[in-house]
Amino acid sequence: MLGERVRIGDGVAFGAHAVIGDGVGIGDRVALGAHAVIGDGVELGDDVRIGAHTVVHPGTAIGDACEVQDGAVLGKPPALARGSTACRAPLAPLRLEAGAVVCAGAVVFAGADVGARAIVGDQAYVRERARIGAGTVVGRGSCVDNDVVVGARVKVQSGVYLTAWSEVDDDVFIGPGVTTTNDDTMSRHGPEYALRGARLRRACRVGGGAVLCPGVEVGEEAFVAAGAVVTRDVPPRAVVMGVPARVVRDVGEADLLEHWR
Ligand SMILES: CC(C)(COP(=O)(O)OP(=O)(O)OC[C@H]1O[C@@H](n2cnc3c(N)ncnc32)[C@H](O)[C@@H]1OP(=O)(O)O)[C@@H](O)C(=O)NCCC(=O)NCCS
Repeated sequence: MLGERVRIGDGVAFGAHAVIGDGVGIGDRVALGAHAVIGDGVELGDDVRIGAHTVVHPGTAIGDACEVQDGAVLGKPPALARGSTACRAPLAPLRLEAGAVVCAGAVVFAGADVGARAIVGDQAYVRERARIGAGTVVGRGSCVDNDVVVGARVKVQSGVYLTAWSEVDDDVFIGPGVTTTNDDTMSRHGPEYALRGARLRRACRVGGGAVLCPGVEVGEEAFVAAGAVVTRDVPPRAVVMGVPARVVRDVGEADLLEHWR
């Protein structure tokens, strides 16, 4: 089904039952899977591939050579709980920059920005106003909450929870099942209470299953051992371990990122 004022480039392939809204722009050599639903005003760059049964909400901008796999949902508007403190202002459209990949069943909200060549893994979840830097990978089933900023070349492994207002600098490694938290009161606070996400500084590494308490900063090149519960800031280049996490040594010179690029 084709809406009005649709602009279609050369060599475009339409899957069966694809639904294209009004004012959609489709670049050259785009392939649209069966049953894809492309909302009003969506822009698809050249060489974009859209999987079967994907839903792209109105206004979403998808750059050249992006791949959106089967069943992904792009540009979803949030459904905020009554007491949620997340901002309710209108959202800018979702942007996928050139070469980004959103894998099967992932959900990426309106207002988010996925950088060039970044990968959002199968069934991952990226909320409104989150920023994913160039070349970053968000692993399978991981959740990047609203207003989280993730830098470039970050590795977020499977099953990670990055809570709202966390900051993740370039080249950080986040192991499987890491949980960050932002609310010491567990929801028993007034409107004046500020939620505090984790701050993961450049090239730090956080081991599998670690838990980061609200507002902790993990310093540049620091190493958090698997299963640690981090209750205090971790100094740059420190190795911390245990519950609660304590400094046990420094990261050795040979382990610094500059030797592993
Ligand atoms: C920190 C780590 C590298 C082990 O360091 P290590 O110095 O080689 O540790 P060792 O095996 O020599 O053990 C030294 C001591 O620390 C303890 N220890 C080791 N790892 C620990 C951890 N994660 N938490 C708490 N204590 C730990 C050991 O039990 C041992 O204690 P002991 O001296 O009382 O017997 C490892 O535990 C780790 O966290 N690896 C990261 C794995 C990961 O999450 N990867 C992500 C991608 S899959």
